[in-house]
Amino acid sequence: MAVTMLSAWCRVICLRKYFSSVSYNKKYADLTIRPNPLSLSYSRAEESFQHLCVHRKNEAKRSILIDINNKADGDFVYKHCEQFGKIKTALHFRNKKDYMLIEFENEDCVSELLSTAGHFQNDQKVPAETRLLFLTRNGNIKYKGNPEAAPVFSIEHPPLFLSDFLATDSLSSQMQLLYQHLQLTDLGQRLRFFICSTLEDMLGGLFPHCHIYPFGSSINGVGRNDCDLDMILSLCPDKYQVKKSTLKFLTKRKQEDERSFSQRNLHVFAEMIENFIPSCVGVIPILNARVPIIKFQHEACGIECDLSLQNNSGLTMSKLIYLLGVMDPQVRPLIFTVRHWAKVNFLSHKNPGPWLSNFMYSILVICFLQLRSQPILPPLKNLLLTDSRSKAQKQILFNKVGTCNVGDLLQEFLYFYSDFDFMSTALSPLHGNCFPKPDYSPLYIENPLDTELNICKNVNERELVKLCEAMKVALWQLNHSGPSLLSIFQTEDSKRILKKRFSVKDLFPKQE
Ligand code: GTP
Ligand code: MG
Repeated sequence: MAVTMLSAWCRVICLRKYFSSVSYNKKYADLTIRPNPLSLSYSRAEESFQHLCVHRKNEAKRSILIDINNKADGDFVYKHCEQFGKIKTALHFRNKKDYMLIEFENEDCVSELLSTAGHFQNDQKVPAETRLLFLTRNGNIKYKGNPEAAPVFSIEHPPLFLSDFLATDSLSSQMQLLYQHLQLTDLGQRLRFFICSTLEDMLGGLFPHCHIYPFGSSINGVGRNDCDLDMILSLCPDKYQVKKSTLKFLTKRKQEDERSFSQRNLHVFAEMIENFIPSCVGVIPILNARVPIIKFQHEACGIECDLSLQNNSGLTMSKLIYLLGVMDPQVRPLIFTVRHWAKVNFLSHKNPGPWLSNFMYSILVICFLQLRSQPILPPLKNLLLTDSRSKAQKQILFNKVGTCNVGDLLQEFLYFYSDFDFMSTALSPLHGNCFPKPDYSPLYIENPLDTELNICKNVNERELVKLCEAMKVALWQLNHSGPSLLSIFQTEDSKRILKKRFSVKDLFPKQE
């Protein structure tokens, strides 16, 4: 009996752990990002990506983030901010402390509000003025406004319970549920664009046309709510550089390649972020990586950040993954489940290493959907066409709506790769086909944006064998324990580690 109870609790704890940090609140479900709309036309799909990038960026510019004393001060803060203009959205969230993200109807309100903010009386502090503010205790006492309740939405993160999960009747519904509960929410996306926007402010004095774009899972439609924030800094878009003008800015020139340029400048920006930008901590420039980056943690938002310079292929790749997700409604839940399965089975890890990264799992799924006997996705080259006929051609791609069951696709995916001839075959997402492997890398997936490169160059044979074995085990589990995600998410390995990490006291928490 005790063993059964213990195992039941283990399952609950496992699920709680797997499904923690869920930004999904039934009451405010409309604030979460909706699953991909069905059968959008190509131009609508492109528009929706454009909208995501432009709309979110503008929204971020009109927003401020305030560290408030506690949730109860939310109404006061709302009323205080309202003096500076109409508030569009006010979201309260907790990340160790309580915060409010306030979006005004226009940017002028933000400037006006900032002009009234003061500094601490402490000479040691660098008096940077950003849109990250702090509510002083005396402010609240002085306030004499109308204390009636303000429309502040509180975003909470209830876990996905085992019962919710078991209540769904099929593998497909469980995959959809997983995707809807763990996907990046409205708040998650707002915070990510807000971080980009505040960094842009920092550089704006010297580089008024600079842009910081998020890319990767923050915008490609398959991001989790706990995903990192990948950013690209573009110091001056081409259109400003080539502008015809009588006078030109006098600038510093150095004879150096693109990589040295990135390394040298990122080194300086890392110092600036470390020294001047509040809430950015643990700043580490990783300048010898294939793509040099600055890593840091945004404390208030609780988000890991990677900033790179002028690396536009990441943005193009993110757009492609976004568009593929819109093409067929099964793509995102399938990629999402595969990435989650890899994570809980310790096949992928947060840090880079000789294993497949989340991005590689996305590409593996895309290749499978291109290669199955009835392809669900087209070769990526069809989406990259730029000639005049391409629009009509692309449109055709978007006219078909998927009829496959995503649960069946998951099983098919596992079957497809568990027995794939990785030894002699390479995958090409660009052409949607396979070709003889050009070198001895254990896993070869041609980079669609630079066909000379192998996306999976880092993957070693041990990790690839481990992956194929795990796929066989998952297939067996789905066939023998019933087609449920629980059977493939709860491996012996994960149970063992969880048992070690949690004491018996944790497994039987006191009822409050
Ligand atoms: P998570 O952050 O783990 O949720 O996934 P992610 O999709 O954001 O992956 P990651 O942070 O590792 O990389 C960010 C983005 O960089 C990816 O989504 C791709 O667009 C791009 N990227 C990463 N690795 C490669 C690569 O080897 N080749 C190319 N072309 N792009 C890459
Ligand atoms: Mg990422």
